[in-house]
Order: sequence, then C-alpha cells, then structure tokens
Amino acid sequence: MTQHSRGIITPGRSPVPRSMIGCAVFGAGVIGEVHARNVSRHGSFDLRYVIDPAIDRARTLAQTWGGTAAADIAPALADDTVAAVIIASSTSAHEEHALACAGAGKAFICEKPLAGSLEGARACVASAAASGVVAATGFNRRLDHDYAAVAARTLDGEIGAVEMLHFASRGHKPPAPETAPHSGGMIREKGAHFFDLAAWLTGAEPVEVYAVGACLVDPRFADYGDVDTAALTVRFDSGALATFDFGRRAVFGQDELIEVFGSQGMLVTGRHRRGNVAHFTGGAVTEAEVMPGWHERFADSYVAELDVFAAAMTHGEPVHASLADGLRAQAVAEAAVRSIKQNRPVAIERIW
Ligand SMILES: NC(=O)c1ccc[n+]([C@@H]2O[C@H](COP(=O)([O-])OP(=O)(O)OC[C@H]3O[C@@H](n4cnc5c(N)ncnc54)[C@H](O)[C@@H]3O)[C@@H](O)[C@H]2O)c1
Repeated sequence: MTQHSRGIITPGRSPVPRSMIGCAVFGAGVIGEVHARNVSRHGSFDLRYVIDPAIDRARTLAQTWGGTAAADIAPALADDTVAAVIIASSTSAHEEHALACAGAGKAFICEKPLAGSLEGARACVASAAASGVVAATGFNRRLDHDYAAVAARTLDGEIGAVEMLHFASRGHKPPAPETAPHSGGMIREKGAHFFDLAAWLTGAEPVEVYAVGACLVDPRFADYGDVDTAALTVRFDSGALATFDFGRRAVFGQDELIEVFGSQGMLVTGRHRRGNVAHFTGGAVTEAEVMPGWHERFADSYVAELDVFAAAMTHGEPVHASLADGLRAQAVAEAAVRSIKQNRPVAIERIW
C-alpha cells in the first residue's frame, strides 16, 4: 500500500472557517511554545488548553497565549469544545498522545518523529485510520516557500528524471545530550524531516540506507547511544540516490541546503540570510549572516501548517504530510540507526 502525499500545498491560501476550532497544545517545551503562539494568533483556532506535566511551563504559555494550563491530557480530551490537538510533547509521549487523540475523535498534528519506535508509529497510523480523524505529521519543511518551490518544479519535470539529491542540515547549537532518550536522537529527530523531503521530491520509495556517525561536537552523546555528526546515503526504488549530512553544531547559524539533480538540470535552495544587504569594501564583500536557528528560518512554515490543518478539518482538503509519510520517514530513521550501529547497509522494510 502506497500512501505518498505528493501534493504541493500553497501556504496562506486556506479558507477561514466560519467558527473557531478549539485547540489544545500537548507539550509546553521549545516547539510547544512556537505552536501555542501560532495557534493563539491564528484566525481559525482558539487555544483552549496547554498541557505539560511540567506544569509551570504549561502555565507560562497559557498566561502568555491563552487557554487553561493542565498537567494531564484528560481534561482536554474530555472537552467537546476541543476539536484539534497539536502534539508537541517529547517524542517518547507521541504514541500515547496520538492514540488518545484518535480514540477521542480529535484531529491532530503530531510532531516528528511520529513515535518512539517503529511499532509505535504503525500503531499511530492504524488508530487514526480506524477512527477517521484528520491527522498529519509535523513535516513543516514541506510548507517552506523555497522547499515547496523546489518540489513543485521537480514534480513539473523541470529538471527531468531525479537522479541524485543532497541534503545538508547542521543546527546552530547542540541540544543537551541527556535529552536524547526523550527526543529519539539526531537521526530520528532531524533525519525524519529530510527522509520525508527526499521521498516527497523523488516520488519514490526508500529501499536501503547506509549511515556512519560520530560524536565530534560533544562526546557525551555517545553515552546515550546518539551521534552528533552523520553522513548517510539512501537508495530509492526509482534508482535515485540521496545523500544527507547532518550535524549538531554550525558556529555561524542554521546551515541548511537542498540540491535536486536531474537528467535535465538541477534545483538548489541554499542557506537563508538574515537580510539581503552586502557590504562592499576595497578588500572584501561582506554579506548578511545566515539565520541563527530553525525557529527563525522556518517560522512561516509553522503558521502555514495551521492554515493547511484548518482547511483539512473544515473543507476536507489534504493534509501537508500524512501519518503514513511519518511512518515512512521513521522506517528510514530506524534502519539508519541500525546501519550506524552495525556499520553496514540496511534494507528498509516497506511497512507504510
Ligand atoms: N517540526 C519541527 O521543526 C520541530 C522542532 C523542534 C522539535 N520538534 C519535535 O517536537 C517534539 C518536542 O520537542 P521540543 O524541542 O519542544 O522538546 P522539549 O523537551 O523542549 O519539550 C517537550 C515537552 O513535552 C513535555 N511532555 C513530556 N511528556 C508529556 C506528556 N505526557 N504530556 C504533555 N507534555 C509532555 C515535556 O515536559 C516538555 O516540556 C519532539 O518530538 C521534537 O522532535 C519538531
């Protein structure tokens, strides 16, 4: 069964529903704050709850952006005025939260990676399908203006058949190594976005991965079985090859680049600058610095995600990335983690 969400969704074109959609945000951490702010400001959503067992974090967000703070998801799930949930909790809580939302008939966006394990991700897909709720994986990069343009032009055939893809993503500052058990680690957490983009851009299915990893930024990542630097190759069933280099520290800001190389040309979208002003002097030309982090670089795409979610809930339009897309990306990530541990290419089982 192939469930490839290939559609290109133009951000900002969604119809605004007649009544506001009651929404809860699960998880009041770094990305929970982004979502709580965007839900609060969005014309289609009404922020009703912010949930986090770290209740002080939930209270801080609720005081700033609205809604009721709670330590447990039960009140939000029992509240009939809540129709939508953004699951922004730690990766280790995603499965429980997605199953609870599906069971309670709440539409949801689940942050990536979909779950803490492949079995958990499969359970999320199955329960959402059984309940029929609108459900999406939080692959916000699909809604970035430039990435969406590369996808649209690739799918239009502008560069012919896709033969090779290259993705670089190096975050500005590393997370604390001790967060790895809750986040899933770099390959699952960061990789999920790019494994999804690669499948989306090729329209093909990943069949094999070979990955090597190292701890060059902070040796403590090894204590948690994680890496902070990695190079990966993925082979697709179309024959296309993709390479990925991931890192946890780029001293100059969010370092991110996509190249799609085809039989008729190449599309490239590179590092985003803070501005477009260059300083020319006798000995040098100085350009603006790159965006400091993913928050700034992809800020618009998180808002676009809500636009698309509202349109899916109210007008039956497609979500930007399905749960099956999340499962595919997770299957690549799990195989890549195994590849690093076993130092060999690993076949990717087709379970989506
Ligand atoms: N789409 C993106 O660009 C993006 C960016 C950052 C993080 N993420 C993903 O979002 C998730 C959260 O990441 P983060 O950086 O915000 O982590 P974080 O550690 O800052 O926040 C996670 C929060 O979830 C809370 N939590 C844990 N169990 C919970 C439960 N049972 N109920 C409610 N809340 C619970 C934690 O207390 C914490 O406050 C991760 O899966 C991560 O991969 C996605």
